[in-house]
Order: sequence, then C-alpha cells, then structure tokens
Amino acid sequence: MTYSVLKCFACGSEYNINRNKYTCDKCGNILDVFHYDMEYTTTKLKGVWKYKNLIHPSISNEKIITKGEGNTNLYNSSRISKYSGINNIYLKHEGENPTGSFKDRGMTVAVSEGMRLNFKKTLCASTGNTSAAAASYSAFAGIESYVMIPGKNISANKLFQAIAYGANIVDIDGDFDTAMADIKKTIEKRNDFYLLNSLNPWRIEGQKTIIYEIMEKLKPDFISFPAGNLGNTSAFGKALMDLKSLGVINEVPRLIAIQAEGAAPFYEYIKEKLENIIPVKAETIATAIKIGNPVNFKKAKRSIEFTNGIVEKVSDDQILEAKREIDRSGIGCEPASAAAVAGVKKLRESGILDRGDTVVSILTGNILKDVSIIPEYKSLKISDIL
Ligand code: F0G
Repeated sequence: MTYSVLKCFACGSEYNINRNKYTCDKCGNILDVFHYDMEYTTTKLKGVWKYKNLIHPSISNEKIITKGEGNTNLYNSSRISKYSGINNIYLKHEGENPTGSFKDRGMTVAVSEGMRLNFKKTLCASTGNTSAAAASYSAFAGIESYVMIPGKNISANKLFQAIAYGANIVDIDGDFDTAMADIKKTIEKRNDFYLLNSLNPWRIEGQKTIIYEIMEKLKPDFISFPAGNLGNTSAFGKALMDLKSLGVINEVPRLIAIQAEGAAPFYEYIKEKLENIIPVKAETIATAIKIGNPVNFKKAKRSIEFTNGIVEKVSDDQILEAKREIDRSGIGCEPASAAAVAGVKKLRESGILDRGDTVVSILTGNILKDVSIIPEYKSLKISDIL
C-alpha cells in the first residue's frame, strides 16, 4: 500500500501528514509530500484526480473538493510554429481550468486536504490567480477564505474574482513579496488558517498532473512555462522524477523556466550558481509573475538540475509580442503565459532550440484574466463594409 509522509528533501526528516506545518523543524526547508511504494496506476476519477494514486493516495474520495479541473487541451497552430521557429510546438491551455488558471489543479488537492484536517479558514498571498482559485474552492467547500493581495499590483479581473467568490480581502500596501512576508508572519502567530500558497506541498502535488497529462500524449524534448514563485518549476521536476523512477518514461524532457526580465531572480540564481536567491524589486507588465523573492527556489533548482533544464528571461516587449501572436492565433492567454512562447522564440534564435525539436509551452492563464492592455485596433464604420 502506498502511504504518504511530509519529507524534507534537504535533511531527510519525515513528518506525519496530519501536522499543519510545511517547513522542516530541523533545517527550515519547505517540505515535500513523499509517497512510499507509489505505483503508476490511474483511477476512474476525472482530470487531476485521475492521478490520485500519485498525488494523494490516502484521501477518501468523499473528501475531495473538485470542480472538474485538469484534462486541458493541447493546441498546435501554424501561426505559432512560424512565430516561434519550432515546427512541433504545442500549447497546453491551463486557462481552461474552472477559475481560468493552472492554480485550480493545486487548489483542488490543497483545499481537500485542508478540509480533511478540519480547517474552517484558508489563507494565501497572491498576484491574483491563486487568490481567485483559493476564494472559489474555499467557498465551494463551504469555508471562509482570506486573501492578501497587493491591490495596486494585480489585475482588476482577478481581484474581481476573489471579491465575487466572497473572499475576505486583506489589502497589502506593497507588492507580492510584501504580502508573502505578511503570510509568513501570520502563520507563525495563528494556527487556525490553512495555508494555500505553493509553500503548501499539496499544491505542488496537484500541479504535477500537468506533466502527467502531457507525457501521456507526447514525448517532448522541451517543456516551457512562465516562472514566478516557482511552484510550477518545483512541481514539474517532481512529476518527471516520479515518472522516471516508476519506469513510465526513459527520456526526461528538459524544463524551460521563463522569467520576466524585471523579475528574474531565479535566472540570476541559476546562471551565477549562487548559494542563495538574491531578492529584487520586481517590475513587469506580466503582473502574475511580478515576484522578486520566490519561495520555492530550492525545490525549483532541483527540478532544473534533474531535467538538465534551462532558465531564460524575456523583456516585456517580447512578452507582448508573443501574446499578440497567441491571441491572434485564436488560442489566447494572459500576459504572463505568453512568456512561455516568447522564451521559446528567444532560445530558437540563439540556437539552443532546434527547429525540429518537439516543444510544449504551457499557457498558465486565460485571455480574460488581465485585460489592462487592450491592443490597438482600427474600428470600422458600417459604411466601410456596406
Ligand atoms: N502564470 C500565471 C498566470 C500565474 O498566475 C503564475 C503565478 C505563474 C505563471 C507563475 O507560476 O508561481 O508557480 O512560478 N501566480 C501566483 C499567484 C504567484 O499568486 O497567482 P509559479
């Protein structure tokens, strides 16, 4: 039988999953969920929970809070192939999840776990999408949510979602990094909030399913995605470690984490082989990834190392150009998501990627998530078409 523990990947300490603290008592690292005797078997459940045996084998099905997340589409488009310079580029659209971003995959697992542990309140800091998902899943489970939001720094559409789903909004005067620091202070003082940031390793378990779905359909050489707080980077490497250790795959695709130029501390950390991340004051139009002090950098480094991965950065202009192409192809995404494709184009141009490589780029959020930058358009008069 598979059984799960919380495990520190730095010092190896193990803890029961019933404890509500996700950092190691001995060395302070963020804990992983670790499944002993894991088997690659799927269930009859849909979407994320199809992979229940690989993400949370011991939770009973009745305890699961789900809105049918996961099972998102993979698109190809001649326009995007031409733009990126990669013939076989596929876009996996995480904006098709119930609240419009990949966050739902982690949220269904974390909120289910919070309910299993009998919490009545949830808490998160967010650049918008986490708070929208946290507010929705908490309300759906019948419990209260508190979201710490740097109101001036997030898209109005995402703020709207959190308010409409009934979250208690804690407006933070500062940026996401200020909000994250406030979260850490809060959970030190209060133990009645269930934490829903990606510090919570159950979020990471849910987000692994993006990779399971891709690897069921394709054998990509590279998988690219936008990187901010580095939850996805951590999750994707862990998922590939699972598949490799279980013998499901032989070849491990290389991960490509893309940061915005003005918010690229992980890029520097990997490139300069630094001991620790050096926080920056983040600045980018892609507010979802406007993060200067990402919490998951150690787990993310493990993912880059395991997959012989690449960390790249792109400018706001490159992000907007890629977004325009993705939108005009009919697929559409929010600005941060477009960084995944902008990065592929940049790496193709610098010769690191080959035209013949198979690449999957993950579009993390829906086109309606952030409409602050409306593209210029020429309006017609009825007389122009009559
Ligand atoms: N793309 C979108 C649309 C996001 O909302 C985020 C993160 C990322 C990419 C980066 O993912 O943090 O796992 O590296 N948004 C968080 C939030 C931080 O609060 O909604 P990551």
